Amino acid sequence: MDRILITGALGQLGVEFIKYFEKSNSFVLATDIKTPKEKLYCQFENANALDKERIDSLVKKHDINIIYHLVAILSANGEKNPFNSWKLNMDSFQNIAEISVKNKIKKVFWPSSIAIFGTESKLDFVSQNPLMNPSTMYGITKLAGEKLIEYYFNRFGLDIRSLRYPGIISTETVPGGGTTDYIIEMINAAKKGENYCCFLSENTKLPMMYIDDAIESAINLMSVNRNNLSISNSYNITGFSITPIQLLNEILSNGFKIKVDFKPDFRQQIADSWPKKINDSISTKDWGWKPKFGLKESIEATLK
Ligand SMILES: NC(=O)c1ccc[n+]([C@@H]2O[C@H](COP(=O)([O-])OP(=O)(O)OC[C@H]3O[C@@H](n4cnc5c(N)ncnc54)[C@H](O)[C@@H]3O)[C@@H](O)[C@H]2O)c1
Repeated sequence: MDRILITGALGQLGVEFIKYFEKSNSFVLATDIKTPKEKLYCQFENANALDKERIDSLVKKHDINIIYHLVAILSANGEKNPFNSWKLNMDSFQNIAEISVKNKIKKVFWPSSIAIFGTESKLDFVSQNPLMNPSTMYGITKLAGEKLIEYYFNRFGLDIRSLRYPGIISTETVPGGGTTDYIIEMINAAKKGENYCCFLSENTKLPMMYIDDAIESAINLMSVNRNNLSISNSYNITGFSITPIQLLNEILSNGFKIKVDFKPDFRQQIADSWPKKINDSISTKDWGWKPKFGLKESIEATLK
């Protein structure tokens, strides 16, 4: 039986993984530094991912054999305090790797990000392994994490699997301080009948993915036979690409009334160093990746 530990379980992705596993017969221990506001349908423990002894004791106590490590400071928040961003993102990952090796954890899921790419990565259509020159501390921590995935596999046989997620669209939680948060903020404003000031320019194109696809892709990657995986660090993956003006037009065409101003801030520079489109053909080939939600379906589903 899968006995799963989720770290950062109360964030945008974590709450959706909890919902997904609720339908399975896996045991789930959700952990976070925050306390849940609502009842969770799995076990929960407050735990700081930087506290290695605490996480290690929870792994032992609950006989954990799979870990979803979701703790991170995201791109825009990371730029507000890059020193903290490096510390949390890297030290928590190192803790999980060490705990996993010592406790013979079967598999770890750790999300990477499109933030690992940079202006040298041929941003119009980014391949699996281009030149990478991330400009944010967040992107640097993700790239370093990808190198560690390979290292720990070669050194200890630790099976860490990873996806380079684009911006994830969901409205269950408040956005976590990333550069693609505008999409959730604009949709939430439209639902509340409010106007919105977008922090990116209207034609900034970025890759995105609907939350159901984000969860299902991770589950599929985690369930496939390791021998099928030709990528030893992290897989490119995407749903569709969209600009703020396209999003606004979709919202209006779904009958919502909203006025949007465009006032780019420091996040524009981050977005300009990120991919416009992602080539995820190796994910399709290796483990059958195919998004279920395109642009229209994702926006419609989120507006509902
Ligand atoms: N959301 C996206 O668009 C996106 C895109 C690419 C990659 N990712 C990656 O997916 C993962 C999850 O992202 P998310 O959007 O759910 O992030 P989030 O910011 O919504 O959630 C992170 C969670 O970690 C918790 N946390 C923070 N510090 C902690 C600590 N010291 N100990 C324990 N918990 C702590 C927070 O309370 C929060 O609940 C991250 O690794 C992120 O880099 C997310």
